[in-house]
Amino acid sequence: MSDRPADTVVLLGVTGGIAAYKAVEVSSRLRRAGAEVHVIMTAAATRLVTPLTFGSITGQPVYTDLLQEPRREAVEHIALARRAHLLLIAPATADVIGKLAAGIADDFLTTEALAVTCPVLVCPAMNADMYAHRAVQRNLQTLRDLGYLVLEPDHGRLATGAVGPGRLPDPEAIVARAMALLAGHGQDLAGVPILVTAGGTREPIDPVRFISNHSSGKMGFALAAAARDRGAKVTLVTAPATVSPPPGVEVVPVQTAQEMYDAVLERFADVRVVLKAAAVADYRVARPAPGKLKKGQAPTTLELELNPDILAELGHRKGRQVLVGFAAETGNPVAEALRKLRRKGLDLIVANDVSDPDSGFGADTNRVWICGPGDAVEELPLLGKREVADRVLDRVVSLL
Ligand code: C5P
Repeated sequence: MSDRPADTVVLLGVTGGIAAYKAVEVSSRLRRAGAEVHVIMTAAATRLVTPLTFGSITGQPVYTDLLQEPRREAVEHIALARRAHLLLIAPATADVIGKLAAGIADDFLTTEALAVTCPVLVCPAMNADMYAHRAVQRNLQTLRDLGYLVLEPDHGRLATGAVGPGRLPDPEAIVARAMALLAGHGQDLAGVPILVTAGGTREPIDPVRFISNHSSGKMGFALAAAARDRGAKVTLVTAPATVSPPPGVEVVPVQTAQEMYDAVLERFADVRVVLKAAAVADYRVARPAPGKLKKGQAPTTLELELNPDILAELGHRKGRQVLVGFAAETGNPVAEALRKLRRKGLDLIVANDVSDPDSGFGADTNRVWICGPGDAVEELPLLGKREVADRVLDRVVSLL
């Protein structure tokens, strides 16, 4: 947390959702980032995780509504509220969201929420049907209207076995968002139209086979989610990926490089930033077979032809847009990336070495160099993809 003073105070509200266990990791990451963390638990949360767990990690007393805890004076609530730089509520159940929306203060956490003057980041987590319920959605909208920040839940398999939005984002993503708020770039992309591409294109051989690559889509999706959280209006043009796209962004699914080219070019004039994390096939099969090729009858060589280079085309047409490319390399990533930056007319290019297992395809981490403008090269340490995304966006903001 280099851009925050060491005395950063985070209040972490934990409510009684199944995902409460993830708050343990959140508190630990905040601590490691140098924050002073005070955990406030609802009564239901204390049945899922013990206050002692949080107390040991944070080195601070844990505030609960349990009567055996020494009750602190009301003024101490207020003193704590005044010292806080961020109130983070993760997970936030439908119940606490409803109370916050109504201004109800019937326990320590909801009372503190009314007393703080710092930003409040609410991270909803619940069953997908509950999350979709109009009452919950209305309450979340009320919170946004009141100035609360809401971190959209992830799509995924929930504790109930159902699949849908409602999953608490990974602790890393929650902490990255908290750090972004603490660093003061809470909504520094508010209203900015941003186009992100992700995934690996598929070039058909026949109706059942294709040529593709190992792209998981994770880096592009992390960029889309980070831009969304910073207030951007995000369009995500995505080729197939191994993970679900983040909610809260406009998703345009494509298959081939040509389809991605068409989808991106159609939108280019209306966006301010393009982040091209997709792994686009350089070649396609010249004449895909209209019917399934039969064993023994299929040709043993495939004739390929060059796909259009989307980014190079954007470089030609570029007006005010900030263009960011990605270069997944196995040789000398920085030299290769700088060459591509110049050739494609980019503002920035993010290089990584995909032969390194920590930054290879499908990894949750990435070790990158942000190259540009010009010959400038910034080497980043090994970071989670979400954190890399925020660092890239920091640079984009400085170019806007
Ligand atoms: O030339 P190379 O494929 O290594 O460049 C990588 C960058 O160029 C990525 O940002 C990728 O999305 C983009 N690209 C593209 N169209 C292509 C090939 C790559 O936009 N046909």
